[in-house]
Amino acid sequence: MLEIADKTHDETRQGEAYAPHQASTASFKKNFYIESYGCAMNFNDSEIVASILNEEGFGATRNAEEADLILINTCSIREKAEQTVRKRLTEFRRYKKSKPGMLVGVLGCMAERLKDKLLEEEKLVDMVVGPDAYRTLPSLITEAETGQKAVNVLLSREETYSDISPIRLDNNGVTSFVSIMRGCNNMCTFCVVPFTRGRERSRDADSIVAEARELFNNGYREVTLLGQNVDSYYWTPKDADPNSTDHVTFAQLLARVAEIDPLLRVRFSTSHPKDITDEVLFTMAKYENICNYIHLPLQSGSTRILQLMNRTYTREWYLKKVDRIREILPDCGLSTDIICGFCTETEEDHADTLNLMEYAKYDLAYMYFYSERPGTLAARRYQDDIPEAEKKRRLAEVVELHRRHSEESMRNDVGKTFKVLVEGTSKRSADHLFGRNDQNKVVVFPKGNFRKGQYVHVTVTDCTSGTLIAATATAL
Ligand code: SAH
Ligand code: SF4
Ligand code: F3S
Repeated sequence: MLEIADKTHDETRQGEAYAPHQASTASFKKNFYIESYGCAMNFNDSEIVASILNEEGFGATRNAEEADLILINTCSIREKAEQTVRKRLTEFRRYKKSKPGMLVGVLGCMAERLKDKLLEEEKLVDMVVGPDAYRTLPSLITEAETGQKAVNVLLSREETYSDISPIRLDNNGVTSFVSIMRGCNNMCTFCVVPFTRGRERSRDADSIVAEARELFNNGYREVTLLGQNVDSYYWTPKDADPNSTDHVTFAQLLARVAEIDPLLRVRFSTSHPKDITDEVLFTMAKYENICNYIHLPLQSGSTRILQLMNRTYTREWYLKKVDRIREILPDCGLSTDIICGFCTETEEDHADTLNLMEYAKYDLAYMYFYSERPGTLAARRYQDDIPEAEKKRRLAEVVELHRRHSEESMRNDVGKTFKVLVEGTSKRSADHLFGRNDQNKVVVFPKGNFRKGQYVHVTVTDCTSGTLIAATATAL
């Protein structure tokens, strides 16, 4: 079953294996291989896992066959995400056969959702470790090494791994993720995340600022603050008087990270339309280095469907948010997530989504058809009653409309000048570099004498459906 979304763009990434650029694994007693699926938070978790394993004397390898330990950090968001992981697990069987003693561990959301059932279903799996249990990996590995199956899927109300310094796996040396919170309290009826990630909790603000500062000192020039709902970030120091005003909101956190250095760009994801405040928008306007880009998941343009989804905003509320963003941040890039064919969705509801898209004209959209997830409120309360062919037809319409909007958005940028942070060499041409502008659009330009991590000015001369092209660039 192929989701159309995968042919366009999908913010949940698929099976990427990364290892830090270490000279050799010879100095480590053992090697681990990690492959990550799903959202940026999951990828960031893999970096925390890498750090924990490093302390235990495990070095990362990019070659699964030579690993003593294979880890797969999984996603449960849609059925297809889980199918991909299961397929990958069958491939690992081959490696395990040729290397006796090799351990295979399933981490992340699928581990949390399926728990020890996963051990029965996937015989080659030795360890099942949920997202709040990574600190116990060393003892779980020891247990698994004795031939026992090892499981820890306990969720926590406190764990934020705030003291663990992630080992950067996807290392371009310029951009990096920093998790600021974990879990989610929203209970959107379609969504498995509150079950796989547990209760929402915010990470110590000082540790976030310290991590971002260290990244900057190591040459990084962009951090993306991550959470399922960053706008509800709220941190109170442990020893603070409960009545004191000594707390940090998301807007305050943004400002603190932005103040590290004007050369450090700050991005964040994801915002919930019900929670993004004017204070956040004004903070974005105030600091030049907070990028003008907001990911504001819509899910549906129909108030009736939004209610069934428990999104807690109406179509009108959402439209007002879009207006407010455009008012305070006139050149802000806007992206979204849309689900087609949710339970009971009528043609009229679907038309409301298309119609809202015409209004918002998203620069980028991640579009999916509804995939029922066992245990969610929607699975328990409603019938998944839209036939798959119909879901796909609606999705195709949404994708097509978005294609027109994004093309228009790209074309509108031709002739404009942007500040771009250079991220590396273009995939298509060794003579070109690429980077992103404030609005998160990729720009390709001749490499000249520019370096990764530098800011340049470009004037866009052309575009493709996903890339802006500039004939020249100048240093800032
Ligand atoms: N925290 C973010 C989204 C996390 S999941 C938010 O609140 O928006 C990323 C996206 O996956 C969601 O925005 C939604 O569009 C999609 N998604 C989640 N559950 C889904 C399901 N059961 N079927 C199809 N798409 C789903
Ligand atoms: Fe899922 Fe809703 Fe939480 Fe996003 S806000 S993670 S969609 S429950
Ligand atoms: Fe997937 Fe879990 Fe993220 S379900 S989208 S990896 S929080």
